[in-house]
Amino acid sequence: MEGLRVAGVTEVVIGKGMPSPLLPKRPDRRRVAILTQPGATSKALEVAGALRSEDLLAEVIGLPDREEAKTLGVAESVYESFAKFGLSRGDTVIGVGGGTVTDLAGYVAGTWLRGVEVVHIPTTLLGAVDASIGGKTGVNLAGKNLVGVIWHPRLVVVDTQVMDALPPALLSEGMAEAFKTGLVGDAGLCSLLVSQGLEAPLDEVVRRAIVVKAAIVTRDEREHGDRVYLNYGHTLGHAIEFASALSHGESVGLGMIAASRMSERAHGFDGMDMVVSTIDRLGLPTSVEGLDAARVLDLLRHDKKRDGDGLRMVLLREIEDPVLDHVEESDIEIGLSAVGL
Ligand SMILES: NC(=O)c1ccc[n+]([C@@H]2O[C@H](COP(=O)([O-])OP(=O)(O)OC[C@H]3O[C@@H](n4cnc5c(N)ncnc54)[C@H](O)[C@@H]3O)[C@@H](O)[C@H]2O)c1
Repeated sequence: MEGLRVAGVTEVVIGKGMPSPLLPKRPDRRRVAILTQPGATSKALEVAGALRSEDLLAEVIGLPDREEAKTLGVAESVYESFAKFGLSRGDTVIGVGGGTVTDLAGYVAGTWLRGVEVVHIPTTLLGAVDASIGGKTGVNLAGKNLVGVIWHPRLVVVDTQVMDALPPALLSEGMAEAFKTGLVGDAGLCSLLVSQGLEAPLDEVVRRAIVVKAAIVTRDEREHGDRVYLNYGHTLGHAIEFASALSHGESVGLGMIAASRMSERAHGFDGMDMVVSTIDRLGLPTSVEGLDAARVLDLLRHDKKRDGDGLRMVLLREIEDPVLDHVEESDIEIGLSAVGL
């Protein structure tokens, strides 16, 4: 098992299986509340078993699946479960599941008794390479992630064995985020994905993606600077996702292609062909039909990343060299035309 550190706070352990003991010993910890979702229940039960054998009281709390978990109503019912269980200041919350579980677990841990320790055990690739790292937590209101705190996990355990049987759509989705991280910070990760696609070794993909995200988050925890680069492909991707029936990963893949075309025009970025062929190798679409470009543009006119001068987007001068640019609607139209819009 291999260890890494994020923002000076989070220890990350990557490997097959789980460390033993799972949690570093602490005399004031008696109880552990384990939050999970339908697709990760067996892992959560395994975690509970491991903790009980370490003489801790462990309780598994099931959450609704996917975004249904990220509401204030669910947070309230979890607080009530914590109260009944007697979760106190020295105790620990563990999120076992995808990004929705770790976002909610981080939020309730960061607010219960003004903050108790949280540990994440991501069971989706997106959770491992992105959502469980960096301390962003949140629940949705009228918009996504409108309420949240920055609350770093003490420990993240990535058991890549859990991901061996991930459904193809979830694998592609996680790989898309890993590729994004490679584009902004690790040319070697891009080479790995362009040459091996979905066959790329998960341990290495996860480790490389976390190393990049860890370095960026350590420099800029609150997204005043470099952290924004991790949004590469996401501004257009979110608009495409909203306007279509495509998944988040599929939409971000298209967003990365469109942003690469814009990068080519604005900065002479020469990786456009590599981006398109990697997205294809990751099992994601490289163009979209039946979607109205005007609708996507309209959504972008209301994007929260706008300021007085228009929309700002992350572009690439080259791989590992991102830049935040003001972009015109005509630039975006050219980007969208690269994915058939
Ligand atoms: N905090 C952050 O920095 C950050 C970053 C990126 C994304 N996110 C958030 O992450 C969320 C998306 O995360 P996600 O894609 O992991 O989605 P998710 O948590 O909704 O999980 C997707 C599906 O996978 C199932 N599942 C989980 N583990 C599985 C396994 N091992 N095998 C089979 N199925 C499994 C779940 O039950 C669910 O149905 C979004 O809410 C997004 O906002 C947060």
